[in-house]
Amino acid sequence: MSSEMKAVLDAILSGKATGDDLVGLPVPKTMRAVTTHKDEIGMFDGIASRDKDPRHSIHVDEVPVPEPGPNEALVAVMASSINFNTVWTSIFEPIPTFQFLERAAKRSPWDKRHNLPYHIMGSDASGVIVRTGPGVTLFKPGDEVTVHCNYVDMQAPDGHDDSMLDPDQRIWGFETNFGGLAEISLVRANQLMPKPPHLTWEEAASMPLVNSTAYRMLVSHNGCQIKQGDIVLIWGAVGGLGGFAIQYTLNAGAFPICVVSSEDKARLCRTVGARWVIDRNAEGYHFWSEDGSQNVAEMRRFGKKIRELTGGEDPDVVYEHPGRETFAASVFVARPGGQIVTCASTSGTITSTTTATCG
Ligand SMILES: NC(=O)c1ccc[n+]([C@@H]2O[C@H](COP(=O)([O-])OP(=O)(O)OC[C@H]3O[C@@H](n4cnc5c(N)ncnc54)[C@H](OP(=O)(O)O)[C@@H]3O)[C@@H](O)[C@H]2O)c1
Repeated sequence: MSSEMKAVLDAILSGKATGDDLVGLPVPKTMRAVTTHKDEIGMFDGIASRDKDPRHSIHVDEVPVPEPGPNEALVAVMASSINFNTVWTSIFEPIPTFQFLERAAKRSPWDKRHNLPYHIMGSDASGVIVRTGPGVTLFKPGDEVTVHCNYVDMQAPDGHDDSMLDPDQRIWGFETNFGGLAEISLVRANQLMPKPPHLTWEEAASMPLVNSTAYRMLVSHNGCQIKQGDIVLIWGAVGGLGGFAIQYTLNAGAFPICVVSSEDKARLCRTVGARWVIDRNAEGYHFWSEDGSQNVAEMRRFGKKIRELTGGEDPDVVYEHPGRETFAASVFVARPGGQIVTCASTSGTITSTTTATCG
């Protein structure tokens, strides 16, 4: 760690530094950051996804600290998190993230700053603002913040009702550079939220991406708008997305059916109040046959299990994200007129006959 970075960190950790104190300290010229390298994009060519080892592609580098532009802030990161964006970035799938940086660089000189031979990843962070760029009014140096990953400038009217529909909407630290896994992050001011004082730095940095995605999928007006009494089938119910989906479902007065892969995970679901749990490993479902065709008999068996739990009801909502392995089964078991909501395709997208939805 550079001496300038150490001075910033010591000031924050002293608990006594004001915003003016932080502005009085020089912004470090360089910082340590977790990166992938553009010249290593091809390093896993010919290797199966599960065998791509991020330890070979992830680096810790000393890199320049970027200048904050209009409506931006530099945040000294106190905690960040690893989520699936980190996984995709580090194995260069489904496309190398450098392609996002190159595409965005054509948009403006400010976007061009992101197009570098290295990509600082990380789509979650909590920390303390050390500098703000021109035009930032709601936040100032010294503020303790949580960073959410929705990266939009809101100039296009398409996004005014729902920022995810902005044609330039991106995910920070995945489709932009200068993400959370660094000593200092560059963020847009509209990504900032005050850090809830009752949360630790780590707690505040572990939630925004998966929490906001679960909220959008199940609750928001362009999501499923779940309501009292709905039955919601949740894949990966104690994963990042699933853990929040259970809570939103229960808080809505709806009924989760939790799908997990072990008895320990099933127990966790019951601990938070879910009554209906399916251990997919114990049941041994195979929705794909060895010949590459969809196994409808297995989907019917899965649907029968759901009806046994619910007393004959089918799910009103299916909360998808595994993708190729489960998508057809999700459609099969949903009630007529039910909703399937998805944001991902962790197990792959291309099938012999169809392409599943990828968020
Ligand atoms: N579009 C967006 O905005 C957005 C935001 C957040 C995440 N995502 C994506 O959503 C996906 C999940 O993220 P996460 O953070 O929840 O990951 P996670 O914490 O690893 O949880 C995913 C869970 O899905 C289950 N699962 C995995 N493969 C499966 C399969 N083949 N069949 C059935 N279940 C399977 C597993 O649970 P069990 O083994 O217990 O069944 C796993 O724990 C990732 O692809 C991520 O990139 C997208």
